[in-house]
Amino acid sequence: MSGQSLRGRTALVTGGGAGLGRASALALAREGADVALLDINGAAAEESAGLVARVGVRSLAVAVDVSDGAAMAMALAQVRERLGAPLVVFSNAGIGTPPALFEHETYEGWRRHFAVHVDGTFHTVHGCLPAMVQARWGRIVCTSSVAATMGIRGTVAYSAAKGALLGFVRSLALEYATKGITVNAVAPGFIDTAMFRAVGEDAVSQVEASIPMKRQGQPEDIAAAVAYLCAESGRYMTGQIISPNGGVWFP
Ligand SMILES: NC(=O)c1ccc[n+]([C@@H]2O[C@H](COP(=O)([O-])OP(=O)(O)OC[C@H]3O[C@@H](n4cnc5c(N)ncnc54)[C@H](O)[C@@H]3O)[C@@H](O)[C@H]2O)c1
Repeated sequence: MSGQSLRGRTALVTGGGAGLGRASALALAREGADVALLDINGAAAEESAGLVARVGVRSLAVAVDVSDGAAMAMALAQVRERLGAPLVVFSNAGIGTPPALFEHETYEGWRRHFAVHVDGTFHTVHGCLPAMVQARWGRIVCTSSVAATMGIRGTVAYSAAKGALLGFVRSLALEYATKGITVNAVAPGFIDTAMFRAVGEDAVSQVEASIPMKRQGQPEDIAAAVAYLCAESGRYMTGQIISPNGGVWFP
């Protein structure tokens, strides 16, 4: 897709330093958007910003922890000043943890999942909405997971936080449906990124064997869905979950 329908718009991608965030930032740039990449790993965000700039749009890297509200307010102010208010927002920063049964989960681990995925999405979307309301146009996409839709053993805290995002997306979509702002989720299956690779080669092979397509997805599979939702093509999509997942789950 390269309809250039986002030319002149600013997009913001959290977790833009790697994986799905980086691939989606590049896809949004190919649609013409200038892109701000926010990531707790500043060097990774800088690297992504360099790749995005090569597409021929403006880019900006900001090192920030999305769970820190005060730091996020400063990061968003910086983006507005340098690139203009982001009207396209991909709230995607996330963490995984080694699979473990819930009885071994700590409260700190539970809280961190909610801090990064849920609070991080609050700070990102809440901070960007006023400009979208003013423009009467906006695109919001959040990264959930098939862990939320189908459940995955050993990932209870992660799944609970990703499930919260589905409720967030559906209710927010209703609030802004008449205001030109769409709100959707991508719920990836198992995708070849550092986060999934961290489970180890044996576990990756086992998971692949359980996927109907018998292979993991690529970050570009998610980026294509994000670009579709954010570009003009996605104008009638709101409150939806798009789940590129090789067949592991369908409603
Ligand atoms: N890879 C998969 O199989 C898969 C499946 C479903 C959902 N997801 C979700 O996709 C999103 C992207 O993950 P990925 O697979 O690209 O992993 P990744 O580890 O390659 O990328 C995640 C990025 O988020 C950044 N990040 C982590 N915590 C942050 C924080 N507090 N503030 C700012 N940035 C932070 C990391 O530095 C990293 O650059 C996550 O929300 C993840 O939960 C991934």
